[in-house]
Amino acid sequence: MSERKATLNIEGQGPVDFPIMSPTHGNDCIDIRTLGGKTGLFTYDSGFLSTASCKSKITFIDGDKGELLYRGYPIEQLAENCNFLEVAYLLKNGELPNASQKTAFEDTIKNHTMVHEQLAKFFSGFRRDAHPMAVMVGVVGALSAFYHEAMDFSDAEHRSISFNRIIAKMPTIVAMAYKYTTGQPFMYPRNDLDYTANFMHMMFGTPCETYKPNPVLVRALDIIFTLHADHEQNASTSTVRLAGSSGANPFACISAGIACLWGPAHGGANEACLQMLEEIGDVSRVGEYIARAKDKNDSFKLMGFGHRVYKNFDPRAKLMRQVCNDVLKELGLENDRLFKLAMELEKIALEDPYFVEKKLYPNVDFYSGIVQKALGIPTSMFTCIFALARTVGWMTQWEEMITDPEYKIGRPRQLYIGAAKRDVAPLASRK
Ligand code: CMC
Repeated sequence: MSERKATLNIEGQGPVDFPIMSPTHGNDCIDIRTLGGKTGLFTYDSGFLSTASCKSKITFIDGDKGELLYRGYPIEQLAENCNFLEVAYLLKNGELPNASQKTAFEDTIKNHTMVHEQLAKFFSGFRRDAHPMAVMVGVVGALSAFYHEAMDFSDAEHRSISFNRIIAKMPTIVAMAYKYTTGQPFMYPRNDLDYTANFMHMMFGTPCETYKPNPVLVRALDIIFTLHADHEQNASTSTVRLAGSSGANPFACISAGIACLWGPAHGGANEACLQMLEEIGDVSRVGEYIARAKDKNDSFKLMGFGHRVYKNFDPRAKLMRQVCNDVLKELGLENDRLFKLAMELEKIALEDPYFVEKKLYPNVDFYSGIVQKALGIPTSMFTCIFALARTVGWMTQWEEMITDPEYKIGRPRQLYIGAAKRDVAPLASRK
């Protein structure tokens, strides 16, 4: 850490010094942990616009350069050279696996893919038309009721068992959530297939015939998983950390993360983006919707555009655009109506001064919906796919938090602006 200091001059009080902490990459941070004790003041930063909530070694985003690193490796290199499970291993352990570690990890994950038979009964408690993310919140939370024997989280092995379990079971649970909506039977995992091909088998296969995964589509979905695996301290990851900071069960914390991810400003944006494209319907109406997005009196936003951190471009969007091209070509859908519409919308928005000045670029969700639709995944399942992949990041961040020597329960302060202290009047005299 550097020896630089920040001095705060508060009217009526003497100057107070705070150390400035220097990261490997990114912005220096003023360490204000002693501010309350030294001055009686708190800081106000709703939405965490300028506040680092933790120290982390996992993921780094440079929003101006449009750079995303997992454990120091650029996302482009990981997407090109590694599969999702190698990326999961990297995020969890800090280093990429060698050949034998890779095989051992893949075998371990394969051996945990089945869920307890009784978990299947949970699904029948939901309406068939329930949103699959609502089902995911319930069923993933319910895992905390099934696996009790490895819950000493001060033990690294117990933490690894929990990690392996949930990474292995998420594809099974997501596929079950889908099958439940269609009324088709749940498919058991197939251990002769790799992680992503097995997920496609459980999603699209039926007991009537053997599902044959298409390697181009499997690879595309695997890259989607990699692109969504972690994204530093976003809303759902912060939710998992905050929930976990009380020492709560990690599966219950993941369920909290899923609930947060569901919102349209976060993981729900891919679903909202596709709905928006359907609503626009035709290239001739793009101008009308761009005008709405710019109108201060209209709450409409261009879904799949903008990002809190990326103010140049979202590197995941670039990769996703390529994946989108590959998938549409493989399926002979190059002239897909929604894809063409998306391209036109992107072109017009990127040239429009409103979007240029506010640095609003397409984010990962702009293309991921189109790819997933082409893969045959229904719109309501898009955010479940995101949740499946992000579970790797959530579990890694949860573990980093509970093993951090500086770890404390998360407990923000507030700026109270409610009624001043007052007395309760007798009922008869209340207006
Ligand atoms: N369409 C039109 N205007 C926008 C958009 C948009 N998509 N996004 C931001 N703006 C405007 C916003 O109205 C504001 O204008 P002004 O300064 O005049 O008030 C300005 O740009 C700054 O936006 P903000 O809402 O203050 O920025 P934020 O950092 O709080 O929000 C965001 C980021 C992603 C929530 C927002 O851009 C948004 O809602 N985008 C659409 C939803 C979306 O695509 N979300 C997926 C995010 S990527 C996936 C993930 O990581 O979860």
